[in-house]
Amino acid sequence: MLTPEENELLTRVGPGTPCGDFLRRYWHPIAAASELTDEKPKMRLRILGEDLVLYRAADGTYGLLAEQCSHRGASLYYGFLEDGGIRCPYHGWLYDTEGRCVEQPFEPQQSLLKHTVRHPAYPVEKLSGFLWAYMGPQPAPLLPRWDILVDQGGIRRLEIRPVLNCNWLQAEENTGDVTHTYFLHAYTMATKGRADQGGGFGRPLQRYGFQPFKWGILKSWTYTGDRGGSGWGNLLVYPNMLRLGGAMHWRVPIDDGHTKILRVEYFPPGKAPRGAQAGETSSDGEPPLTYEAGWLDDQGEYHLDTFSSQDGMAWETQGAIFDRTKEHLGASDTGIVLLRKMLMDGIKAVQEGREPMGLVRDPEENERIDLEQWMAERDLPLGVEDPRNESRIPREQVFDNRHQQVEISAGTARIGVVEALARATAATMRAR
Ligand code: FES
Ligand SMILES: [Fe+2]
Repeated sequence: MLTPEENELLTRVGPGTPCGDFLRRYWHPIAAASELTDEKPKMRLRILGEDLVLYRAADGTYGLLAEQCSHRGASLYYGFLEDGGIRCPYHGWLYDTEGRCVEQPFEPQQSLLKHTVRHPAYPVEKLSGFLWAYMGPQPAPLLPRWDILVDQGGIRRLEIRPVLNCNWLQAEENTGDVTHTYFLHAYTMATKGRADQGGGFGRPLQRYGFQPFKWGILKSWTYTGDRGGSGWGNLLVYPNMLRLGGAMHWRVPIDDGHTKILRVEYFPPGKAPRGAQAGETSSDGEPPLTYEAGWLDDQGEYHLDTFSSQDGMAWETQGAIFDRTKEHLGASDTGIVLLRKMLMDGIKAVQEGREPMGLVRDPEENERIDLEQWMAERDLPLGVEDPRNESRIPREQVFDNRHQQVEISAGTARIGVVEALARATAATMRAR
């Protein structure tokens, strides 16, 4: 449980808020490069509570500026792209990508006014088909080159999800939540007669755990039954990411009550899904982008047919900003407590003029940041030693005395969703 002040601290992301200042120390993906075209080279965006216009100039450079003109506030979205900059549609002030006002057509020649104007503008980089923005103070850290963003030769796909109508932290806390997968995903799928689509999360769970690691928190699990096994991974990458298999998700705050979720998935050579073409790209040469279909059915209810509709339901129904003064945390929430502590540490570091964790400044390290090495290759059957893939970090080096594990002694989670559902159904029939 948090105090009202702590809840505010972790959820408010606008300019000048402690968490907003903290999150601005990281690069965030804001759009797919393929969303800007010759026909439509501009788009409006709201990121971290700021209204912005993103554009691609004729020379291929990108600009990201506050949407409202510094003169008298008209929208630069309707502006004219010119010479790498953008000209306000109202009185023609021209801004460059760094927010300098380079022309004010109606001011006297000797006027110094334009030198007094510095319009908010942020650097943009392109990587892996996404455009990334850095909205914090200089010197900016490096844009992290996570393995799946830079590996070559396989197939990469981009996805942007429907706008999440709630605060970013609800989505990120879910990444520290290893047990939600049993009911929210596997059991829900089983109730729809699709137990086989529960992603293995419906197996009887014996133990789960949390381990801080260099880039955030990793989770561990042990399943029993025919397909039992233990593994680790499903990384919470600090501060607002998830790494699951070959995919990464970013939860980018739009504002306090809305979040943009962007996802990259990479299939190495030889591991492409059926029907995929090697080197598949969209017509402009970028990885193909899909917008995920909505999470609601035609009655306006969550259809719960996909993992993301299920997660979206859980996160949005917590409220626009979940009131954490009312929660009751248990041992299963150990990862959430850990995440909050790490976020508070990061916020404090920024307030005290120190660097929060997870910033990358070493170009050599940033050639390719290997996250996969922190994940077990797969769930290993109990008692079977890992046929170690050399690129992965051995179990004994992944875990240390910070590994917090919880044993499940008895009850529903120990029997697996198929049996649990059968028992619940039988009990319901008996009660009729
Ligand atoms: S409002 Fe933009 S130039 Fe006047
Ligand atoms: Fe989930």
